[in-house]
Amino acid sequence: MLQTTFATRTAKMQSNAIREILKVVNRPGMVSLAGGIPAPESFPLELMQELTATVLQKYGATALQYDATEGFSPLREALVAYLADKHVTASAEQTLIFSGSQGVLDALGKILISPGDLIAVEAPTYVGALSAFNPYEPEYVQIATDDQGIIPAALEAVLQKHTIKYIYLVPTFQNPTGRTIPLDRRQAIAAIIQEHNVLLVEDDPYSDLRYQGTALPPIKHFAPDHVVYVSTLSKTFAPGLRIGFCVAPPDIHRWLVIAKQGVDLHTSTFNQALAAEYLIGGYLQLQLPKILAIYQPRQQAMLAALDRYMPASFQWTQPEGGMFLWLEGPAGLDTEEAYWRAVEKNVAFVPGKFFFAEPGTGNATMRLNYTMASEEKIDWAVRTLAEVIAESTV
Ligand SMILES: Cc1ncc(COP(=O)(O)O)c(C=O)c1O
Repeated sequence: MLQTTFATRTAKMQSNAIREILKVVNRPGMVSLAGGIPAPESFPLELMQELTATVLQKYGATALQYDATEGFSPLREALVAYLADKHVTASAEQTLIFSGSQGVLDALGKILISPGDLIAVEAPTYVGALSAFNPYEPEYVQIATDDQGIIPAALEAVLQKHTIKYIYLVPTFQNPTGRTIPLDRRQAIAAIIQEHNVLLVEDDPYSDLRYQGTALPPIKHFAPDHVVYVSTLSKTFAPGLRIGFCVAPPDIHRWLVIAKQGVDLHTSTFNQALAAEYLIGGYLQLQLPKILAIYQPRQQAMLAALDRYMPASFQWTQPEGGMFLWLEGPAGLDTEEAYWRAVEKNVAFVPGKFFFAEPGTGNATMRLNYTMASEEKIDWAVRTLAEVIAESTV
């Protein structure tokens, strides 16, 4: 039998604990509030035929050929207006296309993290980012949060105490909490990172999924030289196409290109051409209201069901968009224990403790996703969950 000796870095690449416990989620009859993926009915299936024809007609063999590592020019050009609408000023040359925003996160880890470097993350944070960074063997420090995301004074304290390689934040409709950092905090965070001359990785996959309220400029807008802005078309077009992108300060931009060259040479030319035509043709603006019309009633159904069924000892976020709600139960509750009993009754969610970089926190928290189930199923699932929880909290 082959005895394989794996690289020492694999010690840090443990299989994602969430993946392990969610293995039961695909059982027939399960209503999963655990996923983090877009509803398949939100994809512009019919439009894809038209876009495919346009791409073949307009770009011909070019759409099937190798292309520049930086990205397919028409897509980079189309992103300029898209980003400007978000108050991110970037020329086409300043954009970089990656295979999903996950591709950007991996490349950033590769070019920035030496073993033992400290990365500052929200408590809780997006676990997929930790999976991207972990192979490069960083350590993590958590920044305390409240209902409005990270607390600027807590960030300041972390930066006073530690040498931080970079900060990783999801400021809008965060995964897992749904929280959004308000304008004054964005400005305060921008001022702090400029003063400490530290890099921020701003991950923004959800800001287009806004159901109400006013759009906020990203932190990149307030501190352009100190922020890598990362985004994706996964939630607003189709995640399977793997189209992510970033705008980085020049020296980081240069290294990102070198790193990407060694990974996949470039992101699929054909998929980038589809994405370019989606933006150029104004289809994103047409599709977004359709996506929001699917998600908003589901979010409302979940919020109403929580009001109706959840014990008074619970609190939850009330986001103006995104895909997730975050629940916090009474101290002493173990939502992982509740998870297994909920699964027996065909309801799945993600226990919140898995979203913390430092173990031992968040035992009474949970993430609920509302994009994948109908309003009726959401109501039933939350009622069932509340019954399970009530058994744990008596
Ligand atoms: C915060 C965050 N960043 C990045 C990603 C990855 O997205 P992509 O499909 O662009 O790789 C996700 C996906 O759920 C996410 O929630």
